[in-house]
Amino acid sequence: MNTIASELAASIRSIPDYPKPGIIFRDITTMLGDARAFRRAVDALVQPYAGTKIDKVAGMEARGFILGGAVAHQLSSGFVPIRKKGKLPHDIVRIAYSLEYGVDEMEMHRDAVNPGERVILVDDLIATGGTAVGATKLLRQIGAEVVAACFVIDLPDLGGRKKLEELDVPVHTLVEFSGH
Ligand code: PRP
Ligand code: MG
Repeated sequence: MNTIASELAASIRSIPDYPKPGIIFRDITTMLGDARAFRRAVDALVQPYAGTKIDKVAGMEARGFILGGAVAHQLSSGFVPIRKKGKLPHDIVRIAYSLEYGVDEMEMHRDAVNPGERVILVDDLIATGGTAVGATKLLRQIGAEVVAACFVIDLPDLGGRKKLEELDVPVHTLVEFSGH
């Protein structure tokens, strides 16, 4: 593991058997509460895109809002919330997606991104990829160019990165944990 990966891994709390037996929950609240780790994570997420034109950062509710907002600020980009259903007040686009622990729907305002705008997706973690694949499809539906998807944590055994790469979305992650 490189320095940033080991520093971040040490700042993330692992909780065995949550939310169900056999699953290890990777809890980023400890990383967020550690000023140095939080800054290092945001800086490392931003680094490949610094100096490039990113019109919008899209973050997935809820944990993607925390990181995506910070990344957007640092890139001087707009921020687009991709929300769980029923929360957005204006004209929306919606997609069903599968999660590690079930199914849900997510929504985005139809006018949140202009056709051709360059967008990066940000979330805390990629597991099965269901959330990020759904978000990619939503963004493409309204004509966005999905430049990349960025995550603090990759769980490679769950195959999400591969699914995004099959959709031609480059994936940028900071730390990997094996298993669930
Ligand atoms: C978690 C995590 C990612 C997603 C990853 O969100 O924050 O968004 O699961 O899983 P996937 O790659 O299998 O789709 P979750 O919806 O559980 O909760 P949150 O609202 O706390 O972000
Ligand atoms: Mg989430």
